[in-house]
Amino acid sequence: MDKFLIRGGRPLKGTIKISGAKNSALPCLAATLLTSETVTLHNVPYVKDLITQRRLLEDLGATVLTPELHTHKVKAANIEIYEAPYELVKTMRASVLALGPLLARFGQAKVSLPGGCAIGTRPIDLHLKAFEQLGATVSLEAGDVVARAPKGKLIGAETFFEKVSVTGTENVMMAASLAKGKTTIHNAAREPEIEDLAELLNKMGAKIRGAGTETITIEGVNDLGEAEHTIIPDRIETGTFIVAAAITNGELEIKNCQPKHLEAVIEKLREVGVEIKVVDETTLSVKCCEKDLQSKDVTTEPHPLFPTDMQAQYMALMTQAEGASTIVETIFENRFMHASELVRMGADISISGNTAIVKGKTKLTGAPILASDLRASASLVLAGLAAEGETLIDRVYHIDRGYENIVKKLRNLGADIERVTSEMAETVKN
Ligand code: EPZ
Repeated sequence: MDKFLIRGGRPLKGTIKISGAKNSALPCLAATLLTSETVTLHNVPYVKDLITQRRLLEDLGATVLTPELHTHKVKAANIEIYEAPYELVKTMRASVLALGPLLARFGQAKVSLPGGCAIGTRPIDLHLKAFEQLGATVSLEAGDVVARAPKGKLIGAETFFEKVSVTGTENVMMAASLAKGKTTIHNAAREPEIEDLAELLNKMGAKIRGAGTETITIEGVNDLGEAEHTIIPDRIETGTFIVAAAITNGELEIKNCQPKHLEAVIEKLREVGVEIKVVDETTLSVKCCEKDLQSKDVTTEPHPLFPTDMQAQYMALMTQAEGASTIVETIFENRFMHASELVRMGADISISGNTAIVKGKTKLTGAPILASDLRASASLVLAGLAAEGETLIDRVYHIDRGYENIVKKLRNLGADIERVTSEMAETVKN
């Protein structure tokens, strides 16, 4: 199993190009199941989760061509099965995004019920409840969710999400696009990825209004057709690199990003003392001097507030800020796994329920540590870049799920980081 070996203490300098958004490319690829025509997606990030999503589409019977690494041409003309199997869903929960499109287009779908994951139980009860509001019957059979649309067609309806759910909103938006009549989604998620998916669906011929607000309305249509779409930049990768510049007292130009998609993150990091300039619509410049970092409290919330997917990276930065900061995680019940690894490196962090208190600034020293999930692993890489000595991060397969070429990107900015196999790591240790 691969590990990352990092020798910290070098300020990052230079220009970084941000990849396409994993959390937009996943639902956009699922949306290709809504039509038998060709859908072309550009700026698809080359990360493990998208490779899994592509495999799911091909297993269902779609053809996926990649004329260029980041372009996918999908044609779901001969869908033979309507099932996302356990083998795939257990490796990537986002496979549940096939449920809405299959149910809407074929009147039936079978998706393995995702189990919990490192960051929380993450049920999909709200997705299923909304499908029932659209007239579907939903049952659980041997670990699989089996959904059917009576008479093969969903019926537009008022749907309410008790809790804001990103993939829940996406699943219902896709399903409602082919339903009979009008659907309204109340308390919808407002993430930029929702707007991006709606833009693609409208290009395919859907009638969606209000994406990006709490209330989305969808006039169902009989068919959806071909379209071409470019996936938005990854705002979490952007945020991660802003923190990378800050935690190493570096200076970065971040290109191919969308500053307006992470205003809450930029605002908070400016409060902390990071110099962030919006150069133009797709470029940020970031500069940071060690002495400037001040601890600031943060609470994670749905968009447009501070994203939970930046919480771990922010915690790593707070270990290098003067004073105590309180970090409250309101989205997932178990998203502090990185804290104990940061403590192994010398951080001062105490956890109580969904609240972490970080006392800084503390000196971080390299150590062997363990990644537990995607964003936790990003936080450990950031800590390793700031630490004195060598940090060896195990289970980096987590980071490969959502960060494209992170070792190469960091090395191009002057970081001393390498991917090593377990055997190589053994020699390093001795
Ligand atoms: C999406 O997950 C993202 N994943 C997550 O990013 C992100 O952390 C999350 O939204 C929140 O922003 C993708 O887009 C593929 P939710 P999702 O449904 O949709 C509860 C990353 O690091 N809930 O918005 O699965 C749920 O347990 C990943 O890239 C229910 O109770 O998250 C959670 O507490 C990690 N019942 C809250 O709502 C439901 O049916 C928000 O979850 C659905 C959700």
